Amino acid sequence: MEYKISEIREASERLRKKFDSLEDKRAILRAPELLALYEQIKTLPQDKRAAFGKELNGLKSDLESLVSSYRPRLKKLSRIDVTAPFDTNIPPEDRPKLLPAEFGSKHPLMVERQIIIDIFGRMGFTAVESREIDDDYHMFSSLNFPPEHPARDDYDTFVTDEGLIAPAHTSTMQNRILRQGKKDLKEGKSIAVIIPDRVFRNEDLDARHEHTFYQIEGIYVDKGIHAGHLVATIRTWLSSYYGKDINIKIQPFYFPFTEPSFEFAASCIFCEGRGCNVCSYTGWIELGGCGMIHPNVLKEAQIDPEIYTGFAWGFGIDRLVMLKYNIEDVRHFQSGNLAFLRQFS
Ligand code: DAH
Repeated sequence: MEYKISEIREASERLRKKFDSLEDKRAILRAPELLALYEQIKTLPQDKRAAFGKELNGLKSDLESLVSSYRPRLKKLSRIDVTAPFDTNIPPEDRPKLLPAEFGSKHPLMVERQIIIDIFGRMGFTAVESREIDDDYHMFSSLNFPPEHPARDDYDTFVTDEGLIAPAHTSTMQNRILRQGKKDLKEGKSIAVIIPDRVFRNEDLDARHEHTFYQIEGIYVDKGIHAGHLVATIRTWLSSYYGKDINIKIQPFYFPFTEPSFEFAASCIFCEGRGCNVCSYTGWIELGGCGMIHPNVLKEAQIDPEIYTGFAWGFGIDRLVMLKYNIEDVRHFQSGNLAFLRQFS
């Protein structure tokens, strides 16, 4: 718009210069110079007011279109591997400064995760980190889920347009662990690995369901391994974690990556199987899935299923910790609620 009133013309030039230097571009609409011009209307003689007001509104709408058409010039950044751990991409000087440790405490899930890692360490297992972004091959194909197989629907999760997946289970690491462990098998050692890490699901949230939670995956492979080893390993671990003898129950289930597959339940640690409100009066608590690793999963990692067999399991860590401390709602863990967290510090 062309401004006939010199005051408005000059203000327009000043405001445009100011606009260029502003970080928050919308702030120009609240600039004191603009507000002062509106204030000035009242002081003008009646016959000048209409023309002044019209031009001033014109200036305001020019500034509004300046704001809405503004597109920041984006800096060109070098490519990064978005699936890599944080410290691979960010140089030390650009990492966020951490708060002094004395202001905080460890999150209960991290404390319990370490306790579980220590128990498995004593049982001869090594712990490996999973990835928080993965792909279809590791989430499904390498685990014997054929394309379009309905079992894929059990793992509703978050996928980017490029096909990157927020892993819905720690089983995404199985193929990597098996491939890496192949040489250990050849040297007569077993594969004994746990993966206690974060997973993501598109869930309807409630006291038992959270979109982000932790799982502990376990993988064991050697010659002559059978389901008895699976049961004994998990029972030993759980009894050590809860500090008491735990009775267990396995029943048939279906997972594409195990055959046979089982659902695993432990006797309720509160009522010791008699029945209470924690176990819905059944005496049992579901902890997760497990089974003998499917021959196709071993073959996919170039391990000969005629020579080697193995077992695997995936349990929810949040669920284990809830049981240990009688926590009634899984959502406390991700809530950042200090009253909750301080009980564990
Ligand atoms: N990945 C499965 C889940 O999240 C749990 C699971 C079942 C893991 C059986 C395993 C397994 O390793 O053998 O639902």
